[in-house]
Amino acid sequence: MKTTTDDKHLSLTPIIHDWVQRLLADKDLLAETVKQENSPVNIQSTMPFRENIATYKTVFDRYALAHKIFFARKANKCLSYAKAAAAAGEGVDTASHKELQQCLEAGIPGEQLILTAAVKNQALLELAVEEHVTIIIDNMDEYESLDSIVRAKEINAKVSIRLGGFAYDNKTLPTRFGFTLIQAYSLISEQIEAHPYLTFKGLHFHLNGYSVEQRVAAIDQCVKLIDKLLAVGIQTQHLDIGGGYLVNYLANRAEWENFQQELKKAVLGQRPALTYQNDALGMVLIDGKLHGEPTVYPYYNEMYKGLFLEKILTSEAPTYQQAIHELIKERSIELRIEPGRSLLDQAGITVARVLFRKQDTEGNLLVGLEMNRTQLKSSSADFLVDPIHITHQAQELQQPVSGFLVGGYCLEQEFLLKRKIQFATYPQIGDLIVFPNTAGYMMHFFESQAHQFALASNVFCNEDLAITNPDKD
Ligand SMILES: Cc1ncc(COP(=O)(O)O)c(C=O)c1O
Repeated sequence: MKTTTDDKHLSLTPIIHDWVQRLLADKDLLAETVKQENSPVNIQSTMPFRENIATYKTVFDRYALAHKIFFARKANKCLSYAKAAAAAGEGVDTASHKELQQCLEAGIPGEQLILTAAVKNQALLELAVEEHVTIIIDNMDEYESLDSIVRAKEINAKVSIRLGGFAYDNKTLPTRFGFTLIQAYSLISEQIEAHPYLTFKGLHFHLNGYSVEQRVAAIDQCVKLIDKLLAVGIQTQHLDIGGGYLVNYLANRAEWENFQQELKKAVLGQRPALTYQNDALGMVLIDGKLHGEPTVYPYYNEMYKGLFLEKILTSEAPTYQQAIHELIKERSIELRIEPGRSLLDQAGITVARVLFRKQDTEGNLLVGLEMNRTQLKSSSADFLVDPIHITHQAQELQQPVSGFLVGGYCLEQEFLLKRKIQFATYPQIGDLIVFPNTAGYMMHFFESQAHQFALASNVFCNEDLAITNPDKD
């Protein structure tokens, strides 16, 4: 069986919140939870979520900004987080009929909800209108549907306009979402202002990626539109700058940088592979030359969550040559954000049971877990965070070994992680593998039920590590 000493220094050590440290120390509790709930199980806590809300609030308060945080619940389906956001006096960003309806049924008032769904059918628009949820309008067809609904129902609705196509670096930022600034000005000033049932509340954007500079440019251009609207007597009450606040998953910068370098060397054949069949994680090798960068989330960050938001707020708006927070404050605008991933930072882990060990035809150790790849999946080419191995093997028998984690779908590509993992000891049947920090997107966004596998249960830990299942369907 192939084991490598080269991989030893290529750990990607996760940051682990105190509640997870305490849980990991209680092996019996972990084992009991997996026994009760089956494998895999998502174990979560709203404690870090509340801390993350508080982090953002501290930043807004530092600059005395009127603000509201809308948790983008698409990043995790459990209603517990939506309720925790509402209980903290904040709001929830909903992206589908079910997301919205569940929030309303949980007693969250429409005023604390916004609807940003990429596709809004008649039933969804009607529900939002009836419950006084602010609707983010993305395109003219959506506007026309809403127009017919409010006229038929003779109910007022609050709208915010999604903007896209901002100028940045002498180019237009490409997007499939939103109106251009010119289109939005006409829509608001000519149609919404004259509408008997629609009230213009604000502007909204959400940018792909994690660029502070692009967000600053977008805010600058939004403020120009806000001023242009004010010049014709139209007041903008809020500016919603979407989500996309970076998270830091990893404890060690050197490990992260080293991994990137070694991955490139491995793909170029200059060192043993780090990934299954030397997967380049999105880079392309053509005629011996490596192109592009790995298409992975930037798992190590020094400017994350509150620091990322603060960097945006303190940056200078190019048109006004003034800090963003000053521009917003001077205009008495409520600044809104829609963080998903970053509010869920440290809120959950995914735990799965080891079912088999085997070798593939090339002699690699494969460790089979009772879970499938869609239960740990985001759009990143790999989840570059070390899992934690909880073994029942006696300490004195432990022998390090490296291998790959595989799951239950019948595909050759069914690797839970593409990266080769170093285990402190040979995994035993019934051992547990813990994937840390999975609450944001990893556990739910792509989960599927192919082969009719059951979806994973979601349980919550309180501060004393008592486990409950408040989100059971
Ligand atoms: C409109 C909108 N708001 C907020 C978010 C949340 O982004 P993040 O989880 O990166 O904070 C998304 C994510 O896709 C989004 O599309």
